[in-house]
Amino acid sequence: MEFPVYRPRRLRKNERLRRLVRETALSLDHLIYPLFVGPGKDSVEPVSSMPGVSQLSVDRAVKECEEVGALGIPAVILFGIPEQKDPLGSEAYLDSGVVQGAIRAIKEKVPALIVMTDVCLCEYTDHGHCGVVKNGDVDNDATLELLAKEALSHARAGADIVAPSDMMDGRVGAIRKTLDQNGFQQVAIMAYAAKYASGFYGPFREAAQSTPQFGDRRSYQMDPANADEALSEVELDIREGADIVMVKPAMAYLDIVYRVKQKFGYPVAAYNVSGEYSMIKAAGQNGWIDEQRIIMEVLLAIKRAGADMILSYFAKDVARQLHGW
Ligand code: PBG
Repeated sequence: MEFPVYRPRRLRKNERLRRLVRETALSLDHLIYPLFVGPGKDSVEPVSSMPGVSQLSVDRAVKECEEVGALGIPAVILFGIPEQKDPLGSEAYLDSGVVQGAIRAIKEKVPALIVMTDVCLCEYTDHGHCGVVKNGDVDNDATLELLAKEALSHARAGADIVAPSDMMDGRVGAIRKTLDQNGFQQVAIMAYAAKYASGFYGPFREAAQSTPQFGDRRSYQMDPANADEALSEVELDIREGADIVMVKPAMAYLDIVYRVKQKFGYPVAAYNVSGEYSMIKAAGQNGWIDEQRIIMEVLLAIKRAGADMILSYFAKDVARQLHGW
């Protein structure tokens, strides 16, 4: 069939028709809201490069989770900013650490919320790298043990899902083994499987105070030029026991989201990262774009590419729009 018999515009005539043939929908069910939890009490420290995002003390994080729950968002992911940083990131795996305390407090007050935790060392090390530094680089195998300890302490505090974001080789397997040996067979792993060495993490590093003090993360995070390699990274993580595989960042990596979903048919998460957030915020604040409209368009595109779930600082905006609030 072709023009003039076939006229695609017939089904675009009004909103009811457009809704009838709409292929992709954003839903509350698939949103994950990231939270930065730091020390103190009743403390809210705005992150200047991420308008609308703050570093919160545990009590404030609990309040935020109540709001997130009331909006119908099913899950949060927690990032911890410790009181003290040291070369081995000790507070990352302390049962009395900031994230561990936050998990317990959230689980007590908002038990229905799914609590995920970022498992990494860069927020906890004084050098800002994601593992143990030896001879000027991150030592892979020495780091695995610490990551497994960190994941275990999150599980002990009540985390539902742990999410390793360090990009060490073999970390999913190491974490799965430790969790299972300690009776946490039911705690799931969401692996940051295809995580690129990206400039889009800039604002996050201000929020988490985790900028590397020397060098960069290119010896462990992926080269933005590589797509086939992302598929092998994902395959490795699935073999090692990942329950969900993540692609990160999202907007500039939708081809990766698509290929991962097509190839593995596995639960796929995409992380709409800090730089993606800040760019839209900045343009919105300048009146250059319609922020709320662009948010929906971008998250819909991530969904359309094949993501089952989306981590986004815009989760609350999306929820409000979906509710019509
Ligand atoms: C920790 C981690 C980072 C992000 C999530 N986990 C930063 C990094 O790898 O430098 C980035 C999230 C964002 O930019 O929103 N390794």
